[in-house]
Amino acid sequence: MPTARLTLDPGFRIGAVDRRLFGSFVEHMGRCVYSGIYEPGHPAADEHGFRTDVLDLTRELGVTTVRYPGGNFVSNYRWEDGVGPVQDRPARLDLAWRSVETNAFGLNEFMTWARKAGVEPMMAVNLGTRGVAEALQLLEYTNHPGGTALSDLRRDHGAADPHGVRMWCLGNEMDGPWQMGHKTAEEYGRLAAETARAMKRFDPDLELVACGSSNAYIDTFASWEAKVLEHTYEFADYISLHAYYEPVGDDLDSFLASGAEMDRMIDSIVATADHVAAKRRTGKKIKLSFDEWNVWYQSRFPGETALDWREAPRLIEDVYDVTDAVVVGSLLITLLRHADRVGAACQAQLANIIAPIMTEPGGTAWRQTIFHPFALTARHARGTVLRVEPQSPVIDTARYGEVPALWATATHDEENGEIALFAVNRGRDQALPLTVDLRPFPGSRVVEHLVLTDPDTTAANTAEQPDRVRPRPVEGTKTDGEQLAVELPPVSWTMIRLATDG
Ligand code: AHR
Repeated sequence: MPTARLTLDPGFRIGAVDRRLFGSFVEHMGRCVYSGIYEPGHPAADEHGFRTDVLDLTRELGVTTVRYPGGNFVSNYRWEDGVGPVQDRPARLDLAWRSVETNAFGLNEFMTWARKAGVEPMMAVNLGTRGVAEALQLLEYTNHPGGTALSDLRRDHGAADPHGVRMWCLGNEMDGPWQMGHKTAEEYGRLAAETARAMKRFDPDLELVACGSSNAYIDTFASWEAKVLEHTYEFADYISLHAYYEPVGDDLDSFLASGAEMDRMIDSIVATADHVAAKRRTGKKIKLSFDEWNVWYQSRFPGETALDWREAPRLIEDVYDVTDAVVVGSLLITLLRHADRVGAACQAQLANIIAPIMTEPGGTAWRQTIFHPFALTARHARGTVLRVEPQSPVIDTARYGEVPALWATATHDEENGEIALFAVNRGRDQALPLTVDLRPFPGSRVVEHLVLTDPDTTAANTAEQPDRVRPRPVEGTKTDGEQLAVELPPVSWTMIRLATDG
């Protein structure tokens, strides 16, 4: 049987693991906010109406950063509607998802929720139907300590301290014709640059994300980023990437290789950003914010124009299976393999909407299959990402040609000496023997070996069977002091933790 091999060596590194790689996303869409994170009257709701069962799962998931409030929603959003006494807040039409937004939950509720969840907020401003002035007003309301009309208004609204939001998205998917206030690259680039210039005048330490393409298949992919960065290079710190993956027909081999597509997308945007840097003769490097990524069965979704006007409708509540979890694990591996340039990433979304956490209104909350690789990667990928170059048998895929059956990365935490190895076997028919050369880490010992797989790759978790799919320990895995030999089951995600002496 063909064997895969890799070497772990502290001398070969990619970069530090930025904790922001383990971000998530809360959009006012469907049931992400209402009956997701927020449900006054639920038996588990706290005094703010936040579901404490969801808060607990959010902490367990290990989410570090949460992007808010959209998404497509933000491009027609008036942030002022969501602050002040709740009884005075207007209900509005949300044109992105053809829903009714009650505004019962808004900026200050989100900041309180974020503090309780222990996550860093990442805000988006509306550059669709609004512009520089409204972005600045939102920034002053959110971050200025007091003594001005808007900062004092926040204080009157019960938030005495400024929220101190550092990371801001300059709009959302402005390249997409579905976006309210959609723009050409030239139009958006100018608006984003002027918004960013003014926001940095308020606070030069803000970290600003310019909108990249909404997906890698849109006609303007890469030329959009080039034009936008020509305008914004001086002020932007990040360019965003968005990508959702799903099987096309029954082509599961290509679906399992989605990490290869993400890999190529990242390389393309790094090249585009560096091309703009070269033209400007600057040493400044733009980082990548992969602030929407996940598996999303878009083929099951009728499209936003087909929706009717309702509050918190059930939208895109994908139920994930074992294969989806393995793909999510492989996408996390891809993000880590680019830790030198990808400085932030948000799995979209947190609750109910294509989410690791599912809830029932008035009922329970549970972990979808995709929860597990995320939670374990977020918990154990620490320190430095090692440069891992596996030798692997290949799989021939219809969409991406030959891809390695093994997709892997590893981190080394210099503080406690721990190594975490993450590996996916994309093969559907055969287990994959893997040999790990550990000679550069003499005396390594296995601390934990977990595998997420199942003979039924369509198995999923539900309210009735919330733990049907979960990672299971593999007992007895040992190194011989120099190497480790394991077998990766077909369609599986594996994490092996090793203790080392350094
Ligand atoms: O996450 C769902 C939607 O996908 C977001 O609103 C949008 O930005 C993207 O197209």
